[in-house]
Amino acid sequence: MTDLPTTPADNRPYSPGLEGIIAGESSLSYIDGERGRLLYRGYPIGELVKGGSYPAVAELLWTGEWNPGAKLPCEPVSPTVLTALRALPRDARPMDALRTAVSVWGAERNPSWPATAEQARSLTASSPSALAAFARIRQGLEPVAPDPELDLVPGFLYQLNGERPSDESARALDAYFIVGAEHGFNASTFTARVISSTRSDIAAAVAGAIGAMKGPLHGGAPSEVVEQIHEVGSPDRAEAWVREQIANGTRLMGFGHRVYRAYDPRAAALRQVAESMERKPDWLALAIAVEDVALRVLAEKHPDRPLKTNVEYYAAPVLMGVGLTPDLFPAAFALARHAGWTAHAIEQGAANRLIRPDVRYIGPAERHLPGA
Ligand code: ACO
Repeated sequence: MTDLPTTPADNRPYSPGLEGIIAGESSLSYIDGERGRLLYRGYPIGELVKGGSYPAVAELLWTGEWNPGAKLPCEPVSPTVLTALRALPRDARPMDALRTAVSVWGAERNPSWPATAEQARSLTASSPSALAAFARIRQGLEPVAPDPELDLVPGFLYQLNGERPSDESARALDAYFIVGAEHGFNASTFTARVISSTRSDIAAAVAGAIGAMKGPLHGGAPSEVVEQIHEVGSPDRAEAWVREQIANGTRLMGFGHRVYRAYDPRAAALRQVAESMERKPDWLALAIAVEDVALRVLAEKHPDRPLKTNVEYYAAPVLMGVGLTPDLFPAAFALARHAGWTAHAIEQGAANRLIRPDVRYIGPAERHLPGA
């Protein structure tokens, strides 16, 4: 009997979940997790929320130029996209409908590689129309054509509800879109970069990114925040409820982050927006009370790993305040992140290297089928 070769020990560094690993270079955003800072191309997120608009921020990401007057009205959905959306089951998840619409957009346009700002603008302006169309179709309503006079965010709300939104709603959702636009090498953006690195097109990159964002550890949290707050019911139950969740090993949605150890600056910006809204949900005060308790209990349970509020916590009251139903929250996040995903597709294409890491093999040593 001959000696079988064994697999040699692989002692190269390995970090589960790629935590702490630098897997690329980008000039799009800077995250300072320790101090809770987020910059898009050098500009602090709080300044962009106060002085910018989503189209201006998207242009900044795509081109590097700051043009506060930039406009990006929604584009109409093509008949083929509409046919695909009408063919879906009415109870399909909005994220799946959006991913389908992006795929069909790609099949029709067949965009070339490398990705361009023109492609990014068109896809980013088409997806809100597709999501709004699906949201109406599933209710048995006819889609509404975009109003070319409205910019992207009010234009999305218009197509969703069939009437022009108030300035307050448009501004609140615009703030949400700005804070959701870009965030480094998170799971969905990394997915978009991997796909772009194979010289696949911008629609494939965004469709894949939507798939990654669909999971509750990434983009599915805000709707669960609403459920959790309703479960608490009243401020006097907050302490017992939080302790019970932690004791059961249930994660509190809207808390913790892979990168932030400080309060997520996006949560801070959205909390201000939520508190200043006239039509804020009546459970916002309860959410603030639950947050105080949760931060205290999480600090007690994890003294060495600061777990603070993340963007999803205050995304929930803002999205609800502008009239979105919780099942649309993840897809709204995906619309906002189009700017970042497509900017990363452009950046990857501009200095491409196929992303193909190694894996440590932990399976059986070489063996043979009987009789071989
Ligand atoms: N509630 C309770 N405990 C938590 C939470 C939470 N929200 N988040 C982390 N922990 C605990 C973990 O149980 C773990 O405890 P242990 O060491 O005793 O096992 C410890 O803190 C470290 O957690 P990790 O899983 O290592 O943290 P990781 O970086 O992998 O997770 C994540 C980050 C996924 C966001 C996590 O904090 C979480 O699940 N949060 C809730 C979901 C959520 O809010 N997602 C939205 C994120 S923001 C975004 O994607 C835009």
